[in-house]
Amino acid sequence: TGMFTYDPGFASTASCESKITYIDGDKGELLYRGYPIEQLAEQCDYMEVCYLLLFGDLPTASEKEDFVHGVTYHTMVHEQLKNFYNGFRRDAHPMAIMVGVVGALSAFYHDSTDIRDPKQRLIASYRLIAKMPTIAAMAYKYSIGQPFTYPRNDLSYSANFLHLMFSVPCETYHPSPTLERAMDLIFTLHADHEQNASTSTVRLAGSSGANPFACIAAGIASLWGPAHGGANEAALEMLEEIGTPDQIQTYIAKAKDKDDPFRLMGFGHRVYKNYDPRAKVMQKAAHAVLDELGVSDPLFETARELERIALEDEYFIEKKLYPNVDFYSGIILKAMGFPRSMFTVLFALARTSGWIAQWNEMIEDPSQRIGRPRQLYTGPTRRDIKPIHERG
Ligand code: CMC
Repeated sequence: TGMFTYDPGFASTASCESKITYIDGDKGELLYRGYPIEQLAEQCDYMEVCYLLLFGDLPTASEKEDFVHGVTYHTMVHEQLKNFYNGFRRDAHPMAIMVGVVGALSAFYHDSTDIRDPKQRLIASYRLIAKMPTIAAMAYKYSIGQPFTYPRNDLSYSANFLHLMFSVPCETYHPSPTLERAMDLIFTLHADHEQNASTSTVRLAGSSGANPFACIAAGIASLWGPAHGGANEAALEMLEEIGTPDQIQTYIAKAKDKDDPFRLMGFGHRVYKNYDPRAKVMQKAAHAVLDELGVSDPLFETARELERIALEDEYFIEKKLYPNVDFYSGIILKAMGFPRSMFTVLFALARTSGWIAQWNEMIEDPSQRIGRPRQLYTGPTRRDIKPIHERG
């Protein structure tokens, strides 16, 4: 059985060639198409980042205008799609709704599912990026019993999403520039991260020729887990459970205990063995948002103290466990008014641009073949069936 390399969790297997995202885990460096994440976060908006991921370079002013027009053209969803929501329980987790609704999009937009046609692929890409905010906000509105909101194409991508989430027919929500900026930043920081579990899932699903809507739904399903995108929700839950800084040591001890499955959520990463550069940007943004809103959230203090203590602890030092992108994002999102159950949905929304860029890159790659990992078989050797009364 020694014919294949056994690599659990694909820790040392490259599954593809890619020109999109570069991570140096030891240095704690993240580049999209060569540009450092810190610069992108500071100098570009999410639409420029989407363009960069999809087409390989930052847009000129007129390219950006065309791209934004292309995306906003598709922000509405088919009216019939509303019926889908009505079939779900109001208390359903919004990620469950996302998997279902996004998976059903090819039933509505079948005219952009021929993956051999670059034009159809482009329209599907626009559609997915444009409709995710609408679909995500509808999941939220449904859960709280408010009417669905329609997108506004005169707003930026991020301001439109905040409008979709928080406007009601009797009152329009106007986000402050700081909140709009913070939303945009969160989208940029989550946009791509090379071959993580959900992106690999999108590529694997797509390698069989499945349509892009189905592939993105597969990515959403994979992202949902607490070891991946679900960590932002789990991290805030953990901070709330810890409560005050005096409880931190108890939780650090639990995290270090081999017999306790508890892990510090928002800590550790398969690739980063240094500070996650996204976590640094996120921490700064959390400051700005809390200041602007005049919120003094004790959880922010708990988070900072937890980080300080963990970074000085031998266990975390030795295992190179640092805060990751999800450690501070929950604090910002909570301050902005998002319920915890929407955190992972926001991650899915932001990661859609990366998933789509990776999916397109795979389809265009001439060396692309169906993804088909092998295994080391460890089950019984060949044996013969006994009649039922002779078994056991
Ligand atoms: N708290 C305590 N111990 C930890 C943690 C943690 N958060 N993360 C890893 N370890 C320990 C782990 O117990 C193991 O110890 P040992 O070698 O003694 O068995 C060692 O560190 C290596 O862990 P691993 O599970 O083999 O590492 P991995 O690369 O398979 O897992 C991870 C990476 C992100 C799943 C893991 O660090 C984790 O579960 N973190 C908490 C969840 C989290 O924050 N996830 C978000 C990741 S970033 C955003 C995203 O990808 O969606």
